[in-house]
Amino acid sequence: MTVASSPSPGVKTAPWSRKHLLGLEDLSREEIVAILDTAESFVEISTRSRKKVPALQGRIVFNLFFENSTRTRTSFSLAAKRLSADTQDFSPSGSSLSKGESFIDTAKNIEAMGADVLVIRHPTPGAPHLLAQHLKCSIINAGDGAHEHPTQGLVDLMTIRRAKGRIDGLTVGLLGDISHSRVARSNIWALTKLGAKVILCGPPTLVPRSWERMGCEVAYHLDEVLPRCDVVNVLRIQFERQQGALFPSVGEYSQFYMMTQERLNLAKADLLLLAPGPINRGVELTPEVADGKHSAILNQVANGLAVRMAVLYLLCGRMETKGPPLDKRR
Ligand code: CP
Repeated sequence: MTVASSPSPGVKTAPWSRKHLLGLEDLSREEIVAILDTAESFVEISTRSRKKVPALQGRIVFNLFFENSTRTRTSFSLAAKRLSADTQDFSPSGSSLSKGESFIDTAKNIEAMGADVLVIRHPTPGAPHLLAQHLKCSIINAGDGAHEHPTQGLVDLMTIRRAKGRIDGLTVGLLGDISHSRVARSNIWALTKLGAKVILCGPPTLVPRSWERMGCEVAYHLDEVLPRCDVVNVLRIQFERQQGALFPSVGEYSQFYMMTQERLNLAKADLLLLAPGPINRGVELTPEVADGKHSAILNQVANGLAVRMAVLYLLCGRMETKGPPLDKRR
């Protein structure tokens, strides 16, 4: 493990030796905690009148988003700017992909322009891993199909830890379309490593019993599991990834699984409600619940900036202390 030098007074150092962030499945408990602790330091920087630090001065961060995004793309851009990196967005529409250039060749050309980090979102699971095999720069997975969304998982953990003071020993419900959710997978890997109990809840067509193999409890009756949860993370129905109808109608889904004020009355008084976004009001949760006192949805967005600053800093911030140079990292 290396020790990252402090980018600015007030930023804690953290053990870190990875070149890429491809998923939370690969990370140890200590590495996850190192990112969360580093993110806490960046929260403080965001409260300063001068919010910029020179940690990534001279570095170039490219955003390659092959799927739409509001939160992730914007917060990576802002995070890179706050760390003094140059940033550039790549948009597949209007690019030479339409002329037959391959995904890897496209990425290699972007790397040839001096990219130090590629932040990639792609509908195909494993696309970031493919780039990590073929390119020399750091790769950050910003969501690959239904596989993983590691920075969202870290945002959710940071939001829970800030609200509850711990992860260990908590019961966290993941509600909704688990099968098609990359956020669910990243949450499960990280929450279980940090000692939380995870309950997956939704219709059987979206929550296969086989997920018990990931160390989770599987449940189909929300009203029965809700009283046991300290946290519920409400996941969006991923209609764009579903093939065929997996429940009779949105109305029936909402009847059994939408988070309503009535259902909140069954929950613990201090239930923390998360939703990674985008949210569909009236489908997964009612507007009054989305905007209510249990909801930490906008806190998640705010924490996203700190988490993405921490990830960029740990992967390619200037290392002034001992440890492997950037090109020797795994
Ligand atoms: N949570 C999330 O990934 O949001 P975006 O799709 O807007 O980036």
